[in-house]
Amino acid sequence: MTVTPTPRIAVIVVAAGSGTRLDAGGPKALVGIDEHSILRHALRGVFAAPTAQVVIVAPADREGDALTEAYAAADEADAVHPLASGRRRDLVGVVVGGSTRQRSVAAGLRALWADVDVVLVHDAARALTPAAVFERVIDAVDASGAGVVPVLPVIDTLKRVESDAVVEAVDRTSLTAAQTPQGFPRPLLEAAYAAAEQEFTDDTALVAAHGVSVRTVDGDERAFKITTRGDLSRAQMLVTEQPAARAMSREPAPPAPAVLPRVGVGTDVHAFGGDGELWLAGLRWKDEPALSGHSDGDAVSHAVVDALLSAAGLGDIGSRFGTSRPEYAGAHADVFLDATRVLLHEAGWRVGNVAVQVQANRPRFAARRAEAEAALSTALGGAPVSVSATTTDGLGFTGRGDGVSAFAVALLLPR
Ligand code: CTP
Ligand code: MG
Repeated sequence: MTVTPTPRIAVIVVAAGSGTRLDAGGPKALVGIDEHSILRHALRGVFAAPTAQVVIVAPADREGDALTEAYAAADEADAVHPLASGRRRDLVGVVVGGSTRQRSVAAGLRALWADVDVVLVHDAARALTPAAVFERVIDAVDASGAGVVPVLPVIDTLKRVESDAVVEAVDRTSLTAAQTPQGFPRPLLEAAYAAAEQEFTDDTALVAAHGVSVRTVDGDERAFKITTRGDLSRAQMLVTEQPAARAMSREPAPPAPAVLPRVGVGTDVHAFGGDGELWLAGLRWKDEPALSGHSDGDAVSHAVVDALLSAAGLGDIGSRFGTSRPEYAGAHADVFLDATRVLLHEAGWRVGNVAVQVQANRPRFAARRAEAEAALSTALGGAPVSVSATTTDGLGFTGRGDGVSAFAVALLLPR
């Protein structure tokens, strides 16, 4: 069997420019669009991509501000789409840029970790670049092994002029407008930078001058570069989602989500008669008889796990965390729920909400219901969980007090 290694992707975000044309009284990347800076907005797209390292190239003396922005963006992304591998903060580094964009990229290249093998270079000034553009570029570098630039067709009719006189029309069919992020296999980009003897306006031009062709993928209208006051106004309108801004950007209305929410159900039953203390709904219940089971017998959290797995079509608790797995012996709700959340995340889902009902004579949930909801919700990364409890009027095995039964429904949303 051959194993294809997953490329380790770094994004260099160049943010060291002074913003002469914007003329906002400070470095452009730290100018606000709304309550957030251009850099902070740019990092939203960056952190949504599957990156292993993010190098921010900051203006001299503003590394601290850049790091603050980066941490805020990293935490925001963690809250929405937690990574199984850890916090996005740990991916971030800040270096000081140079006097030209090319020198700033070179500074970023020097900060790459040894195991990075694909590099994307992105202008912070293209603050509203959607995550999909990053994904397209990464996929194309991965598939082709070549450099990749996102492009848009040129819409305007073009003229070559001398002084103020039109000399000739320029055929626009073979022209495109280059955007960022531009992605490259690391050895290619480093070799091209080492060989460059003049200034180029972007990395595609620099690599092309090195004699290596670069491929194109579709860019996006929202990846426009904030250069002038007019561009900043356009960005301001887009982030406040004014309909006028959408019309101005010639952007079609966003399509309906292709993936619909999904619901799932789960039940679980455990008999009293286990060793030790009772664990139910993620809580320890002192002085209550324990439930029996391979893990802690927590029927409530197991029903929740089953509902979540069923909604995602990922099987059930037995097939995922069965009795053959010694690491789950004696495990509590937080272990199962966290592992389930990771499975869901990897399959493209996040938890919308969960409702679970427990049928039992004891323990009495009324006094600890909020505590149980908080424990289960925390273990699921903050999704709302509601817990209700009932007795069965003395009927059945729960009515006889032989055990506990739980029934859960879950709603999943596409990530
Ligand atoms: N950039 C950089 N280092 C430089 C110059 C530019 O990191 N010495 C970055 C900018 O921060 C920007 C991107 O390169 O994100 C594209 O540059 P541009 O839009 O031209 O930004 P500025 O150079 O800041 O603007 P201006 O040319 O108007 O001064
Ligand atoms: Mg510039």
